[in-house]
Formats: sequence, C-alpha cells, structure tokens
Amino acid sequence: MEQIHFTGISKEDKYKNLLPQLHALLLDEKDRIANYANVCAALQSIFNFHWIGFYRVVEDELVLGPFQGPVACTRIKKGKGVCGSAWEQKQTISVPNVHEFEGHIACSSESNSEIVVPVFKQGTIVAVLDIDSIYFNTFDEVDALYLEQIVAMINV
Ligand code: SME
Repeated sequence: MEQIHFTGISKEDKYKNLLPQLHALLLDEKDRIANYANVCAALQSIFNFHWIGFYRVVEDELVLGPFQGPVACTRIKKGKGVCGSAWEQKQTISVPNVHEFEGHIACSSESNSEIVVPVFKQGTIVAVLDIDSIYFNTFDEVDALYLEQIVAMINV
C-alpha cells in the first residue's frame, strides 16, 4: 500500500480516508492472517500507535497474531485483561487509563490507554484487535466506530 501522510486533519478524516483503501486491500484476499497483517500495517502507517495487533481465538484462549510494536504476551484466557474481557463481553472496550482497569495485562510498561475491538465472523468472535497508546485517553467513540467498520471488512 502506498504510504500516505496526513497532516493537520482530524482523526475522523484519517479513518475516512483509510476506509476505502482498506476495503480495496481486503476485498479479494481470503487469507485472514494476511488481512490482519495489512490492517495493522495500514493503521500503523497513519496513527503510529505504541502497539497494534490481533489476538486470535484458538480453542479456549486468545493467541497472538500479526502485530506491530514491541514483543507481547502470547496467550490470554477468556475474561482476562482487556482483550479477554472484550471477547467475553462481545463488545469493544476502550480504556482511558489502563492502570485503573482491574486485571489489565501489562505487556508493556509504556502503555497508558487501550482499545480492544472484537472481530466477528458470522456472529462469533474469531479474534480481537488490540491497540495500545503511550498516552492516556487516546481512544473514544470515533475510534470504536471506525475500527469496528475496519474489522468488519475482514469478511472471510
Ligand atoms: N493489555 C492487554 C494485553 C495485550 S497487550 O496490550 C499487547 C490486555 O490487558 O488484555
């Protein structure tokens, strides 16, 4: 994908610009891992998050998938941490201050806020998208709205 530099535009406009590009990128590719990898790379090229990656549902736990950023924990049980909670509750969880989230799994001491978005396939969660920020209060309803649309494009 062509590297695009956005300057001085809103977060919402960044997502809006990214959506059609990701749609084209994901449309004809049926390999889920390849699509997870490209979603990470595309979002990272725009937002430069501390960590972005997917955890895949493998039997009774989440297992690390494609990601960009520092080394991360490999397996997360259902209900554990922000990722396991989003999986269990079947909904996006945005955490403005991870230090106040009971059970938060600190893969990196530099993370201060986080969002986890479930990836559904025919009504079942098959993965979660996890994004960590070094800043507090990074993620809001705009991120949730667009990230949910982006993961819904991984429709294979
Ligand atoms: N903080 C996450 C664990 C994964 S890392 O952030 C990459 C959690 O609490 O589920």
